[in-house]
Amino acid sequence: MNNLKVAVIGAGQVGGTCAQRIVERKLADVVLVDIAEGLAKGKALDLGQAASIEEYNFKIEGGSDYSLIKGSGVVIMTAGLARKPGMTREDLLVKNAAIVKGAAENIRKYCPGSIIIMVTNPLDIMTYLAYKTSGFDSGKVFGMAGVLDTARFKYFIAERLGVLPSEVEAVVLGGHGDSMVPVIEYTKVNGKPVSGLIPDSELKGIIQRTRDGGAEIVSLLKTGSAYYAPSSAVCEMVEAVLKDKGEVLPASVYLEGQYGINDLYCGVPAKIGEDGVEGIVELKLSDKESAALRWSAEQVKEGIEYLKKSGLV
Ligand code: NAD
Ligand code: LAC
Repeated sequence: MNNLKVAVIGAGQVGGTCAQRIVERKLADVVLVDIAEGLAKGKALDLGQAASIEEYNFKIEGGSDYSLIKGSGVVIMTAGLARKPGMTREDLLVKNAAIVKGAAENIRKYCPGSIIIMVTNPLDIMTYLAYKTSGFDSGKVFGMAGVLDTARFKYFIAERLGVLPSEVEAVVLGGHGDSMVPVIEYTKVNGKPVSGLIPDSELKGIIQRTRDGGAEIVSLLKTGSAYYAPSSAVCEMVEAVLKDKGEVLPASVYLEGQYGINDLYCGVPAKIGEDGVEGIVELKLSDKESAALRWSAEQVKEGIEYLKKSGLV
């Protein structure tokens, strides 16, 4: 992709760290936008002053005026409220829906040809809202969750076996919530099936800890949610777009019958390149895992129905 300018909407914990990772990975110019006066401008200035030390030469702008995003090829949406202890991602739905709707209207106005990477929770529902509000082709709007959830799953498996996370192959499908589906049949450690390395009872515990991965960090931080691993996951997707990698990554994408799921966003393996979602990979799943994926999609569908009933989409 030639247009090497990435807009980050929401300059908070995730957005600010995304901006940092984008320039440190030497990917693109960055513009940060946030309604909190001074936040985006301050973080942009701070990042700019790190340039000579970190040896990156990119333009980093910040402000509260959405027109700053004009000309961006990729827009990362992190604007919204994060969870506090005891909150579910779904608890953020109504407040974040209003924020996402407004931001998506601005993206449609200022960057009609861009690719939107959604982060704001509840992720799959917000991605559907951004898709509908922007009016973009579905492939130009996708959500980051599966890369993060898979990274967490790999981390917990690696910790249990005393190996590096990079030695673990895995994929987590489904909605970004308590019903996400770590696919055991596709989980290997140095090529060996994990089911032969970790007893089933312990694997169940690791799956649950992956589902609770976000909440565990929220309970420790107390004032917000995770942002280091989430921003790394976002940048993995940004890099796949900007470098036209055609990389297969778990992403919240619009399904039109794949996996027996229709008219909603949900996490499945997708080919990500300069045109956004360039293909959807249909894995062969066991009956149990197919049912779990469809159940997860049903949870997303409930949230979308709520949006529709509320007139938000
Ligand atoms: P944060 O509170 O640190 O940052 C959010 C920022 O959005 C704030 O600075 C706020 O001022 C800004 N904002 C609010 N309304 C805005 C608007 N209309 N326009 C522009 N900016 C606006 O929160 P965070 O930790 O960065 O998390 C951001 C969102 O990402 C939350 O919804 C969180 O749940 C979600 N999240 C998702 C994942 C995932 O895996 N998809 C991972 C981590 C966080
Ligand atoms: C997480 C939440 C914030 O997974 O989505 O960290």
